[in-house]
Amino acid sequence: MAQPFFDHPYLSGHHQPVRFEADAPDLIVHGEIPDDLAGIFYRNGPEPLYPTREGDYHWFDGDGMVYVFEIGDGRVSMRNRWVKTEKFLMEREAGKRLFGMFGNPMTADPITQGKRYNTGNTNIILHGGQLLALMEGAPAVKLDPRTLETLGEEHYGGVITTTFSAHPKVDHATGEMFNIGAMINGPMGAAELRYDVIRSDGSVRKTEIIPVPHMALMHTFFLTENYVVFPMIPIDADLQRFMKGGPMTAWVNDRPTKIAIMPREGTAADVRWFEYEPRHMFHELNVWEEDGKIIADVAAANGTALFPDETGVKKTHGDTQQSLRRWTIDPGANTALIKEETLNDRDIQFPRPDDRLMTRKTRHSFANINLNSRDGRVEGMDAVLRYDTVSGTEDYWHFGTGAAAGELVFAPRLGGTDEADGYAMTLVHPADGGNSELAIFVAQDIAAGPIARVQIPFRVPSGFHCNYYSADSALYRQAIPG
Ligand SMILES: [Fe+2]
Repeated sequence: MAQPFFDHPYLSGHHQPVRFEADAPDLIVHGEIPDDLAGIFYRNGPEPLYPTREGDYHWFDGDGMVYVFEIGDGRVSMRNRWVKTEKFLMEREAGKRLFGMFGNPMTADPITQGKRYNTGNTNIILHGGQLLALMEGAPAVKLDPRTLETLGEEHYGGVITTTFSAHPKVDHATGEMFNIGAMINGPMGAAELRYDVIRSDGSVRKTEIIPVPHMALMHTFFLTENYVVFPMIPIDADLQRFMKGGPMTAWVNDRPTKIAIMPREGTAADVRWFEYEPRHMFHELNVWEEDGKIIADVAAANGTALFPDETGVKKTHGDTQQSLRRWTIDPGANTALIKEETLNDRDIQFPRPDDRLMTRKTRHSFANINLNSRDGRVEGMDAVLRYDTVSGTEDYWHFGTGAAAGELVFAPRLGGTDEADGYAMTLVHPADGGNSELAIFVAQDIAAGPIARVQIPFRVPSGFHCNYYSADSALYRQAIPG
């Protein structure tokens, strides 16, 4: 029998688990699904099956639950399924949690020894004709793109068997996917990362091992036309610190942000290191080259509330609010030359571009933001914003105080090719109800409000990343033929 969850900010309110799987063939829609909107929208996020063994919880630790919305002919269907990794199946069989938080072996049931902690809970992408559920501590997990049946880990012919990024980059000009594996030797092994290039057919073209100065959480990395950039923020996972009574994952005070730059086709010998002030940065909007410089538009803050510092001191969301910032890096400079400017100071969570232009210059930022929800626990993002980084104009919609909106994702119009020509959508939990909605906007008129509100008859807990694939895109056609 499953035991009740304990009280925790990430297990209550808009984060409270629902713990079930559903199929809804034709959801009720308020408004109109446009004729030129057809494709598939995925969302991944944590949905813990059981309470942890430690009596504590972290948002990043829950079992992955994937939602799929198929949109076309004016209708929307929905399905959600857990990512059924070996971890999930072992724990479901046992009827309780077996693994330690974040796979901590010190707090795990001995039966998990030699088994992999893989939740597949962070991102959900199409590439190489496959749907892949991703978390940064384990290999990718293959799912059926429509039924979401778990098909097992993807090891790329035995080439990629350890960690896989939750934020690989697809260069839409070539269809190639660029990826990293962080902490490939585990938290006690040598500090190295792996860089991979995976062809559009899913075969590996290049893989390179790169020594790094120390362990770090590397939730994302940057790709431009000619460079790959590996930012190391001052958050690490340290089992030795945990064994001495400290936090396993922590912000390390006084450690600079270290940034490695390498030509896309380069080797570890070509890496150049830059340093900057300590920054929290998990997500970029987009990164490109201009006049020989690397321009990185990122969601960044001067600290984090996600983890304590190495002495156990925790900050609040208000202390560590993220803003949209532009980092300009000169890869040819002899010194650590990084310029930082704030583009927009709204409390931002996940900025996204028109994905088709990833690695190339873009102007539009789509994001979920928090306008005025301050409940003192874990505030949701109560609004969505399109920000024009060229003109500096804001175009936003407020769902109301206490609402919780997920990542706002651009969805191209069928046949459209211009930047931001189409729609934008987000999953939102209104403040005043037990349900959720998929809210669909005209991409360049967010302020007009949703043109369609797809009703989901239960609350979808707040989660992580979403992706939309238009029915006329190469990635969609490869994975979902006919
Ligand atoms: Fe992420």
